[in-house]
Amino acid sequence: MRNEQIKPNVSTTELERQQAIIEEIRQINDEYFKETGKKRHFYNFVMGCQMNARDSEKLAGMLTEMGYIETENEKEADFVIYNTCCVRENAENKVYGNLGYLKNYKSKKPDMIIALCGCMMQQPTVIQTIKKKYRHVDIVFGTFNLYKLPELLKTRLETGHTIFDIWETHEEIIEDLPSIRKKKFKASVNIMFGCNNFCTYCIVPYVRGRERSRKKEDIIAEIKALVADGVKEVMLLGQNVNSYGKNLEEPVTFAELLREINEIEGLERIRFMTSHPKDLSDELIYAMRDCDKVSKALHLPFQAGSNTVLERMNRRYTKEGYLTLIDKLKKEIPDILLTTDIIVGFPGETEEDFEHTLDVVRKVGYSSAFTFIYSKRTGTPAAEYEDQIPEDVTKNRFNRLLTLVNTMVHDVNEKFIGHIMPVLVEEESKNSKNMVTGRTPNNLLVHFEGDESLIGTVVDVKLIENKAFYIIGERN
Ligand code: 5AD
Ligand code: SF4
Repeated sequence: MRNEQIKPNVSTTELERQQAIIEEIRQINDEYFKETGKKRHFYNFVMGCQMNARDSEKLAGMLTEMGYIETENEKEADFVIYNTCCVRENAENKVYGNLGYLKNYKSKKPDMIIALCGCMMQQPTVIQTIKKKYRHVDIVFGTFNLYKLPELLKTRLETGHTIFDIWETHEEIIEDLPSIRKKKFKASVNIMFGCNNFCTYCIVPYVRGRERSRKKEDIIAEIKALVADGVKEVMLLGQNVNSYGKNLEEPVTFAELLREINEIEGLERIRFMTSHPKDLSDELIYAMRDCDKVSKALHLPFQAGSNTVLERMNRRYTKEGYLTLIDKLKKEIPDILLTTDIIVGFPGETEEDFEHTLDVVRKVGYSSAFTFIYSKRTGTPAAEYEDQIPEDVTKNRFNRLLTLVNTMVHDVNEKFIGHIMPVLVEEESKNSKNMVTGRTPNNLLVHFEGDESLIGTVVDVKLIENKAFYIIGERN
C-alpha cells in the first residue's frame, strides 16, 4: 500500500519550493530556541555504501539549514533519521532492532520525530511491516525523493500523521541541494544514479532505479566549487561508473569525463567507484594511466571465479575475460592497486566453483577485498534459484577465502616497502598518539608520526613496515 498523497511532480522550481519550506521550519526552530533556550538536534544514521553516505550529507545539509544541530547522542535528538541499506539481510535486521530501542527513547521524549529513508524503504514488504509493527515511526521516504525531506517534515509537523511517501521511480535529477561534508579536504560527487545490470543476486536495480547520468557541466561546476572551498580529493560515485554518460542527450564517456576533471586547477586527486568489469574500456584504462590526478587504484568487483556461477549471476564476463582485463591494467599502470567484492555461497556454488574464486584471488593479488556471504533478497531472480547453499558450507568457504585474502594482501603491499610516496593526510590515528593516517595515490593506508596540523596536506612518506592492511611510514 503506497501513500500517494504528495504527488511526484518535480519541476525546476522544486528546489526553490523546498528552500522556502526550509526557511519556514528554520523560523519554527528559532522560535523554539527563543522560548526555551534550547536548539533542536538531529541524529543522522547511515548504513551501506558510499551512495548512501553521500545522500546523508544532503540530509544533514537540509537539516542544518532548517536550524537543527547534529548530535552523536541519539537519545537527545529531536529528529532521528536512518538512511537504510538492503543489499544484505543483516542490514535490514539492524534497522528493525534499532527501531525497538528507539520506541523506548520516544516514550520518554514524545516529541521525537523518527524518519526512515533509503533503499530498504523502496520495498513494499518493508513498508507493510513498518505500518503494522513500528507505528512509532513518523516519516518514511525512499531513494527517489530525498530532496523532499523539508516538505515531508512540514506535513508531519502540521498534521501529526505518519507520512509515507515512496516513489516507484525517479523524476529529474535535482541539483544544488545543500549538503555538509565530513572532511574539508575531500568530497564525494555523484556522477550517476541507478543501475541497469540486474545481477541476479542484487536488489539495487529495484530500489535505485535505472541508470541516469548527471550532465558533465554540472559535475565539473560542482567540483570547481568544491575545490574553491578547499577540497583536494574527489570521489566520483556511481553504481556503475563505466557506463557514465551513455544516456545523456550529448553522450560523454567516463574516460572523457575523467580527462576533463583532471584539468581542474587546484584539484589533486580523483578517485571513483564502482566499476563493472564488463564495461571497463581500453579508453578508460588509458585515461587512468595518463591523468596524473587519477588515483592508481581500482575497485573491480569480480564476485565469483567460476564461469557457471558468473553466468547464473548475470555478470556478463568470464573468469578468463576478467583476468585478461587485469593483465592489461597491470601492464598499462604498473603501480596499480586492485580491490574487489566477492560473494561466497551463491546458489548452486560447488566446491569446484569456489576453487575458481580462490584462484582469481591468487592470480590477481588484491590490496584489499570485501568478502560477503550470499544473502537471499526477495524479489531478485537468485532468491528463486534452487540449491541454496547450507550455512555451514558457506561459512567454511568464507573462512578459507578470508585466510587467503589476508596473506595475499600482505604480499601485495610488500613491494611498496622502501618507496617514498605522497600521502594525503586524513586524520589523527585512532589507536596511537602522535600518529596520523593518510593515503597514497594508489590508496595504500599509511600511519606515520605527525600531528593534526598535517591533516589535509600531502606529505612525502617513506613506507617502512608492512602490517598487511596498513603500512607504517616515516616522513621523508
Ligand atoms: N548477497 C551478498 N552480497 C551482495 N552484494 C550485493 N548483493 C548481495 C547479496 N544479495 C555485494 C556485491 C556487491 C556489493 C556492494 O555487495 O559483492 O558488489
Ligand atoms: Fe547490483 Fe550488479 Fe548493479 Fe552492482 S552492477 S549495483 S551488483 S546489479
